[in-house]
Amino acid sequence: MSKIIIPAASALFALIFSAAVLQAGLFDKKKEEVKKDPFAESHAAETLKLKAAPGAHAPVAEEACSKCHASPKDPAKMVLPGRELCLSCHKERAGDLAKASVHAPYKEMECSTCHQPHGSVNRALLSAPVNQLCSTCHTLGDEAVKKSHNGITVIETECVACHSPHASANPKLITEVKQHVPFQSRSCDMCHEAAGKDGKSALKETPEKTCFVCHSDFKKLSEKPVVHPPFAGGECMACHDPHVMRLPGQLKKPPQELCLACHDAALKNNHPVAGHPTSRKGVKDPRRKDQPFDCVSCHLPHSGLLAKLTREDPMTMCEGCHQQ
Ligand code: HEC
Ligand code: HEC
Ligand code: HEC
Ligand code: HEC
Ligand code: HEC
Ligand code: HEC
Ligand code: HEC
Ligand code: HEC
Ligand code: HEC
Ligand code: HEC
Ligand code: HEC
Repeated sequence: MSKIIIPAASALFALIFSAAVLQAGLFDKKKEEVKKDPFAESHAAETLKLKAAPGAHAPVAEEACSKCHASPKDPAKMVLPGRELCLSCHKERAGDLAKASVHAPYKEMECSTCHQPHGSVNRALLSAPVNQLCSTCHTLGDEAVKKSHNGITVIETECVACHSPHASANPKLITEVKQHVPFQSRSCDMCHEAAGKDGKSALKETPEKTCFVCHSDFKKLSEKPVVHPPFAGGECMACHDPHVMRLPGQLKKPPQELCLACHDAALKNNHPVAGHPTSRKGVKDPRRKDQPFDCVSCHLPHSGLLAKLTREDPMTMCEGCHQQ
């Protein structure tokens, strides 16, 4: 950048000059507006409204109305018909129809059966919250549906935790995410008691009766000198998903978020020493292969030999990651 020195005497000139620049700027802006999307221009009020609404669809937020609308004179006229319009941009969905199980409304109906084209207060432009949406066509009290869910009336659980709404390589649209072995084998009763007549889920209450049956080595973990209270209390589900593996270790959320849900947010950084990060995007744990650097880099989540559940003695742990 060039540095311009303005002598005091020519201050007036500078003022005039900058006014001229300002005008030129305004002029440029006007020219830009002329180049603007023709549909957005002719529907200026709607554009402002749609753009400002929460959850606006990316092309709407960018005022690129003409990517979908073919004519400013007729808002009902699209550049492509029905689902073709959506798939022209959403090429990532192109392989769906070739999958072993394709959801009937996804195959046979318009995307607008479930999505709004402009935006929605619900996530993913959905026309209703997920479970409400699914329930408009599926009767959850239906015997076949109940039987599939081990007798549980799935009302409050996120359907898409287990099902894909579009298509899947698995039968019954079961998600393509890796499944926990007893879920995959449909051994629901390893963890669930038979559901009551009310369709409510009843769980076997202790990890002894559920998790430790298979994870027998984990029982020994509760005999270590320092046991993390939620582990001792059998609250495995405070951290783990019992059905599917969306994150490594079947964690419900990344460790940083999990831990700080119960622990002081002040630990987020500057811990254990001032200026120290406790995680950093893209930084790998120097010692645990392919794992991110986070709380679990220094702490054991279940139990251990040392105070504060540290993996090593705090006096010597620094060298483990920082060679001089
Ligand atoms: C992703 C494609 C897409 C984009 C982008 C888009 N629209 Fe639409 N728009 C549609 C579809 C599809 C309909 C038809 C909706 C229906 O049939 O209910 C529609 C309908 C309309 C209508 C008719 C009235 C109504 O709401 O049904 C207006 C007005 C409109 N859009 C304005 C806009 C404006 C303004 C923009 C740009 C800010 C925009 N649209 C961007 C897909 C789009
Ligand atoms: C002009 C290109 C374009 C068209 C046409 C288009 N989309 Fe999109 N859509 C996008 C972009 C860009 C995003 C943002 C993607 C991202 O954030 O990764 C998006 C995001 C989405 C999302 C995810 C929103 C979220 O919050 O997660 C859904 C759902 C979606 N579009 C559905 C549709 C449907 C249904 C149609 C047809 C009515 C459609 N799209 C047509 C470009 C388009
Ligand atoms: C039966 C209802 C239904 C239909 C029909 C449907 N979707 Fe979806 N779609 C959903 C739900 C539910 C989600 C949210 C999934 C989630 O949050 O995990 C979603 C998510 C999306 C997303 C966000 C990214 C993703 O994969 O999670 C895109 C993009 C999308 N749909 C595009 C489309 C397009 C394009 C069509 C039409 C060809 C379509 N959908 C038809 C229910 C539907
Ligand atoms: C517009 C109506 C409609 C909506 C909305 C809808 N479905 Fe469906 N769904 C159907 C129809 C029709 C079938 C096929 C007939 C049947 O098996 O009952 C089906 C089948 C299914 C199947 C069995 C698939 C198979 O291969 O047998 C599952 C699982 C399913 N839907 C889950 C969902 C979930 C989860 C949602 C919400 C994201 C949802 N549905 C929303 C209409 C709908
Ligand atoms: C905890 C995981 C889980 C959740 C949450 C879940 N489902 Fe399922 N669903 C399953 C399993 C497992 C099956 C049986 C799959 C099989 O037979 O291989 C199934 C089967 C189904 C079927 C097929 C029934 C038949 O006729 O065979 C439908 C429809 C269905 N689910 C809809 C839903 C809806 C709607 C929701 C949300 C209100 C939902 N599911 C939530 C796991 C789940
Ligand atoms: C490894 C143990 C385990 C297995 C196996 C298992 N579940 Fe679960 N399930 C749980 C736990 C624990 C919860 C409570 C959810 C939580 O705390 O995160 C739960 C919750 C649920 C819910 C939600 C209940 C509600 O109140 O909304 C449904 C539905 C469900 N399971 C269905 C199934 C089905 C169907 C199977 C077999 C295909 C299955 N589960 C297998 C442990 C398991
Ligand atoms: C029927 C036997 C069985 C039961 C019961 C069971 N699991 Fe598992 N679990 C497995 C198997 C097998 C694996 C896969 C192990 C592997 O790939 O190394 C696994 C994997 C896991 C993993 C992921 C390990 C990884 O790869 O990162 C977690 C976490 C987990 N189980 C937690 C639980 C919890 C919590 C419970 C009790 C609610 C439980 N399990 C009950 C058999 C079981
Ligand atoms: C405070 C959160 C938390 C609780 C509570 C918790 N875990 Fe974990 N668990 C983790 C984390 C984090 C990992 C990943 C460890 C790693 O990356 O080294 C993990 C890993 C696992 C694994 C797979 C890796 C391994 O070490 O073999 C299994 C199996 C497991 N936990 C079972 C359980 C069982 C069973 C319970 C309940 C008795 C439980 N966990 C309670 C956070 C927790
Ligand atoms: C469900 C709540 C819960 C979650 C989630 C949780 N903790 Fe804890 N943690 C506790 C409780 C309760 C204590 C004992 C009281 C205290 O010291 O705060 C504790 C104690 C600790 C201690 C030892 C403190 C001491 O004084 O000895 C450490 C270290 C710790 N947690 C680390 C973690 C890490 C790392 C995670 C994430 C993997 C985590 N916690 C997730 C509830 C939780
Ligand atoms: C670089 C290593 C390192 C990382 C990363 C780390 N900790 Fe620590 N943490 C320690 C050490 C060392 C101590 C023991 C300090 C002491 O003895 O005073 C400790 C102590 C604690 C304590 C006990 C605090 C007290 O006042 O007694 C908790 C709780 C804790 N950590 C939670 C976390 C959480 C949550 C994260 C992630 C956000 C995390 N730690 C990340 C090294 C680490
Ligand atoms: C589990 C591995 C691990 C341990 C143990 C560890 N660190 Fe770190 N440390 C890191 C990582 C990763 C970074 C961030 C490096 C980066 O951003 O690229 C870091 C950064 C630092 C920084 C620079 C902070 C900055 O923002 O530039 C200092 C200073 C530091 N560590 C000191 C220590 C001290 C003192 C100890 C012992 C109490 C210690 N570390 C223990 C992994 C560790």
